[in-house]
Amino acid sequence: MENNNYKFTKPWFEPMKESWDTIFNWYITEGKNELKSVLEIGSFEGMASVYMCEKWLKDGTHYHVVDTFGGSENEVGHQDMIKQINDGDDFIYDNFKHNTSFFPNIGWKVERETSQHMLPLLEREGYTYDFIYVDASHQADDTFVDAYWAHKLLKPNGIIIFDDFLWQEEGRDKPIESPKFGIQAFMSLYQDSYALISSGYQVALIKKPEEVIIKGTFINEK
Ligand SMILES: C[S@@+](CC[C@H](N)C(=O)[O-])C[C@H]1O[C@@H](n2cnc3c(N)ncnc32)[C@H](O)[C@@H]1O
Repeated sequence: MENNNYKFTKPWFEPMKESWDTIFNWYITEGKNELKSVLEIGSFEGMASVYMCEKWLKDGTHYHVVDTFGGSENEVGHQDMIKQINDGDDFIYDNFKHNTSFFPNIGWKVERETSQHMLPLLEREGYTYDFIYVDASHQADDTFVDAYWAHKLLKPNGIIIFDDFLWQEEGRDKPIESPKFGIQAFMSLYQDSYALISSGYQVALIKKPEEVIIKGTFINEK
């Protein structure tokens, strides 16, 4: 990160930078595509958000964030954080506001709400996005619902990245207790609408242009 004044307590996004650079270099530089609007579902302290601002976004980009800023109550690893917040230290939200304040030329819109409640409202209000990052609840059903709405909110030729495809918390091995089955269900059900960019700890997909979805073939598959 270029700016040493950021406040981060968890470096979760750090290992993703290299693969994001590959993806966005391909998408923006080589593909001549633009990222005019971004939706991040689960931003935490904004490490991915500020990385995108530093590296890949232009001034004036619309950056929409949906997060409870309350941690993930179903995860063992979040319990200390949730206690801290309940004790009155709103550090996730405070750090997010601090970190993103270094980018006053980005059009921030921050919704402090669960994604399951907020995303249908965004769709009803007519928002659409060029890039959506899904990184909120790690429950498979929540992840699928986030993905379902993300599909409706993503523009043709837009990119969706799912974090934590391979995430598993120790002692919690039921299908619903990790995002994997939610992401797999989404990829199976919507396979005609997307092409796979990359799959590893994260999964990145590109939505096919509308006319190509109708024909049933993707331009790169010819
Ligand atoms: C793993 S963190 C996100 C990390 C962030 N994308 C980054 O790169 O640094 C998950 C975030 O999702 C939020 N969250 C969990 N469940 C949520 C839900 N149902 N709706 C909205 N936000 C949620 C938590 O408050 C937390 O900030």
